[in-house]
Amino acid sequence: MERKRIELATLLQKKAKGEKITMLTAYDAPTARALDDAGIDTLLVGDSAGNVVLGYRDTRPVTMDEMIVLTSAVARGTRWAYVIGDMPFMSYNATRAEAIRNAGRFVKEAGAEAVKLEGGGPMAGTLQAIVQAGIPVVGHLGLTPQTVGMLGGYRVQGKSAENAARIVRDALELESAGACMLVLEMVPDRVAALISRRLKIPTIGIGSGPDCDGQVLVVHDMLGVRAGFTPKFVKRYAALGEEMERAAAEYKADVESLAFPAAAHSFAIDDAEYARLESLVKDL
Ligand code: KIV
Repeated sequence: MERKRIELATLLQKKAKGEKITMLTAYDAPTARALDDAGIDTLLVGDSAGNVVLGYRDTRPVTMDEMIVLTSAVARGTRWAYVIGDMPFMSYNATRAEAIRNAGRFVKEAGAEAVKLEGGGPMAGTLQAIVQAGIPVVGHLGLTPQTVGMLGGYRVQGKSAENAARIVRDALELESAGACMLVLEMVPDRVAALISRRLKIPTIGIGSGPDCDGQVLVVHDMLGVRAGFTPKFVKRYAALGEEMERAAAEYKADVESLAFPAAAHSFAIDDAEYARLESLVKDL
């Protein structure tokens, strides 16, 4: 069957048909190409780049310029998937005008189809302003890493009925404001299922159970690139970090023992040319 580029309408149809939506994060062109070729529906250039590729302590130091570079690379490496750029902390929080300008950069400069921003309630107006400027916006509720300091740490959100009801209200408000999708991070499974049933737009879960309309993982987590802490909700599909370390150690041993480079990895010069070279340089 001929493969078609994924549009927003494709994702909405998937929800309507009960077909799961697949999303992974990506931060560079070759990874985007591999995920795209594997048939992943949508690639999120997450500000998780701060932790997983830029070496920051968390997502908050990530800048707009960094996100534009990473998103451009992902867009260049993608032929079919729907590319979403994640608006970094403080790129949409101060004024709506600045939020629109920064969202516009993701589309105009980086080639993203949509942007994502974190937060409910007060963020609904900002989200609506960006949508009215013609840019699809994905919401993000539950654990919102950019404001983790306000949430008491990286923990499940919506465990009490009151907190869960607030997340449901925020979800409905973001949908009314024009959100095209909603990421639900670390929300109890039955709360995420309830939200997914109540919304017409697709929900994409991360640590929020199987009943969301789709799932997202940070690609470095699922590929096992990142050493150290792996959240409970991550399933590791590979151990690339260990494979990278093994390959680097083998390379080091090869270079040190002269096993690499071999003749097959080198370029030769004709004997006659080499003889001429020797005579040309002998008096230098
Ligand atoms: O930044 C990110 O990668 C995200 C996903 C975890 C949803 O927001």
